[in-house]
Amino acid sequence: MKKVLVATEKPFTKVAVDGIRKIVEDAGYKLELLEKYTSEGDLLNAVADADGMIVRSDIVNQNVVSAAKNLKIVVRAGAGYDNLDLKACSNSNIVAMNTPGQNSNAVAELAFGMMVYGIRKQFSGADGTELRGKCIGIHAYGNVGYYVAQIAHGFGMKVYAFDPFVSAEKMRADNVEPLATVEELYKTCQFVSLHIPATDATKKSINKKLLSLMPAGAVLVNTARKEVVNEDELVELMEERKDLMYLSDIKPANEAVFVEKFAGRFFFTPKKMGAQTAEANINAGVAAASQIVDFFTTGNEKFRVNK
Ligand code: 3PG
Repeated sequence: MKKVLVATEKPFTKVAVDGIRKIVEDAGYKLELLEKYTSEGDLLNAVADADGMIVRSDIVNQNVVSAAKNLKIVVRAGAGYDNLDLKACSNSNIVAMNTPGQNSNAVAELAFGMMVYGIRKQFSGADGTELRGKCIGIHAYGNVGYYVAQIAHGFGMKVYAFDPFVSAEKMRADNVEPLATVEELYKTCQFVSLHIPATDATKKSINKKLLSLMPAGAVLVNTARKEVVNEDELVELMEERKDLMYLSDIKPANEAVFVEKFAGRFFFTPKKMGAQTAEANINAGVAAASQIVDFFTTGNEKFRVNK
């Protein structure tokens, strides 16, 4: 009997696990859960006899791949797969997939939750400002970017986006104004919401030079990855520009500096929680389980991300 391991340091909601279990067991496979594990050793033990694996931001590196003697497929239940060592997977003939779009709305809603929280002075009762009429720049117009645009329209914002991989026609069809360069996006928009993946090309790419272009009252919202922001340069700029606010769905490495110097001008979630809703967990978890069953039964590799 095939074994499908769900290895989630940050567990899915129970209802999502129930959905995953049903799909896996209906297919005649065994489901094993490894939740809230605290050491790589626990993951190495659990994956040793797994045929398929579902993870979230869990690290699937060479050690994990080497320990996974039977593994044929790993599905990242979510969008970003920077936690998977794709080369190691390919070298061991393991198919790696993600579940694009399944948790996007949850992330987009959190971006707005953080924006409102930030500009209403963290619900302290102090005077705040509003989103209506302001410009929001969506940096990378993928699945999350699409939902950010939808919600921004509801708030009465002017919506711009920069994404060299998405056509201007597609953006215009969504009532989003495409901008030709990333510099224009930052120059035009008081609010910028990051939705770029963490790759060698994007890491630390949100730097002082780019952020300096933002208009007065600038708010940078990061529900993507902390690695894409040059955190040291952000601190430098926040020291120079008292109007700049940073809201992030994960603490930066230099969090202590923010706490010491920038009270009221930042907010960080204690743990990455953009996708932590029942709906997103169900969508992404069930999609991951279905993709594994489909792969084993029909060979479908539709959402494969490695070569
Ligand atoms: C993603 O890439 O899908 C999101 O960042 C969610 O990540 P998570 O599954 O760790 O919450």
